[in-house]
Amino acid sequence: MTLVEAHGVGRRVELPDGSRLDILQGVDLVVEEGDRISIVGRSGSGKSTLLNLLGLLDAPTDGELEFQGRDVRRLSSGARDRLRGSEVGFVFQQFNLLPGRTALQNVQTPLLYDRGSGFWQRERLAREMLERVGLGARLEAKPDRLSGGEQQRVAIARALVRKPKLILADEPTGALDLETGAEVMSLIESVADESGAALVTITHDLAIAARSNRHLRLVGGRLEPLDAAPSAPAVPAPGTLASSVDPALDERLTA
Ligand SMILES: Nc1ncnc2c1ncn2[C@@H]1O[C@H](COP(=O)(O)OP(=O)(O)O)[C@@H](O)[C@H]1O
Ligand SMILES: [Mg+2]
Repeated sequence: MTLVEAHGVGRRVELPDGSRLDILQGVDLVVEEGDRISIVGRSGSGKSTLLNLLGLLDAPTDGELEFQGRDVRRLSSGARDRLRGSEVGFVFQQFNLLPGRTALQNVQTPLLYDRGSGFWQRERLAREMLERVGLGARLEAKPDRLSGGEQQRVAIARALVRKPKLILADEPTGALDLETGAEVMSLIESVADESGAALVTITHDLAIAARSNRHLRLVGGRLEPLDAAPSAPAVPAPGTLASSVDPALDERLTA
């Protein structure tokens, strides 16, 4: 099933001096259920802006963007918020956990907005999700007592507790060491596999990019494909590091 379809999407902002800045231009992208897409690009190339559009945090100023067949620009902001809440999970580089709250309370937060049974079952669902990410013994821990990798696992549990169909990860391993980053990616992938969700990952890490099966690059607000060489492993084994990335792919990702 098609989750997101973008045709000629642009995002333009007006700056305080009255001039206009085209952050994204002419973006075409189709995201299907189960897709594994990586997006690389220099700082300032528009990666986060694109992810925010895909995740309904923002609407395009040009082109067409459909989410599950619905025209995003025609949705009211309330409808957009509800759709995002039930269908999209974000994982950020900064874990963005509520500092004074326990892991269990943090993971329950999205369920407070669930209009169905999720609201009433929020504690059980949050506990199960934390067990799923290996933190069943740290339910009552507050973020300042958890390592970076553990905090990111809480953030993953929070992003996925409503079983979103689209998982958007903005440099999810950027604040973690290589090995912890690879473990965190494996975890996101396996949870995505279980629910058949699509995963779009922005990353600077070639080993992380190589784990996806579609590789894209943003250059100055324009999205380009970077097709993997046939010899590149589509999904390297968990824990595989940069040295195993196909050199041809490596070259194209960094060019
Ligand atoms: N709301 C905004 N107003 C003005 N400029 C913005 C706004 N959002 C993003 N930008 C600019 O657009 C460019 C792309 O931003 P971003 O999508 O965050 O890039 P990336 O994530 O690739 O580093 C940057 O130059 C950024 O400063
Ligand atoms: Mg960014």
